[in-house]
Amino acid sequence: MSRTDDDTWDITESVGATALSVARARAVETDAERPLYTDPYAHFFVERATAEGWRSPFLDEDPVRAQAMAAYIASRTKFFDDFFTTAGANGVDQAVILAAGLDTRAWRLPWIDRSTVYEIDQPKVLEFKERVLAEHRARPAARYAAVAVDLRHDWPTALRQAGFDPSTPTAWSAEGLLPYLPTAAQDALFEQIDAFSARGSHLSVEAFGEVFYSAEQLARRQERMAQVRRAAAEAGGPELPDVTRLWYLEARTDVAQWLTERGWEVSTIAAVDLMAHYQRPAPDGLEDPVPDTVLIDARKQ
Ligand SMILES: C[S@@+](CC[C@H](N)C(=O)[O-])C[C@H]1O[C@@H](n2cnc3c(N)ncnc32)[C@H](O)[C@@H]1O
Repeated sequence: MSRTDDDTWDITESVGATALSVARARAVETDAERPLYTDPYAHFFVERATAEGWRSPFLDEDPVRAQAMAAYIASRTKFFDDFFTTAGANGVDQAVILAAGLDTRAWRLPWIDRSTVYEIDQPKVLEFKERVLAEHRARPAARYAAVAVDLRHDWPTALRQAGFDPSTPTAWSAEGLLPYLPTAAQDALFEQIDAFSARGSHLSVEAFGEVFYSAEQLARRQERMAQVRRAAAEAGGPELPDVTRLWYLEARTDVAQWLTERGWEVSTIAAVDLMAHYQRPAPDGLEDPVPDTVLIDARKQ
């Protein structure tokens, strides 16, 4: 399952399946007694993929860790929801969701009039999403354009061809993406976002810190993953993927600092503080309960 420069995937394969894990966490939050948001489509994706043989890593073998990740993703989702709503309230009517996966913001957020939402992801991921949403007769709440292209390739040209206008302010998001990109592609991504961001643009990023990429934490994660995979195999279930093999574990540019140096006004919040703010703390007693991340909200002056 290791990565190659031009690898591609369907929704239940490789990096594609990580979008399903996020959808599953959003389905859990949607069913909570007092949810931070509701994503009525999340269940549809999970049901369809489960019917096609997918199963969520962690769920049965490590339910406490699955609960921690669900709390993390609930908080992260709320952060990005609020980011787009605020950008709209500031008159930004063009949005680009990078590595959109099964994100349904184009369908469920209150977009301002004449908004356009561009979603970038691999072709088969966007096809699965379109198919499931069409089956449920879901209609986007803004003009919507799917841009099926790999973010390691010439995505700026594909985005322009889909109608994106770099002269107008844009709200960008990069959620659940950066470890799946090589460092060079991550650096190129932010160079291009900066070049395509008119003054007044907003950018939100889930940025992964040094601890996340450290050899020590990786070893602990791989050991836990091996235990979960063994438990699943002993229970006679299908083979579980090892998500740690999908990341590019390379030294990274500090995104918040890089943006600040280019004149963006940047604010950050650590994941644990965000979770405390939303009253979704991870369960006590877990080692490395959630990824070492900061959530960035930046505006181009
Ligand atoms: C963890 S999921 C997050 C999906 C979405 N942002 C969310 O939070 O619901 C990662 C997503 O990144 C996409 N992705 C990763 N690398 C990519 C690449 N090189 N090009 C396009 N999409 C990519 C995957 O297909 C997958 O949908």
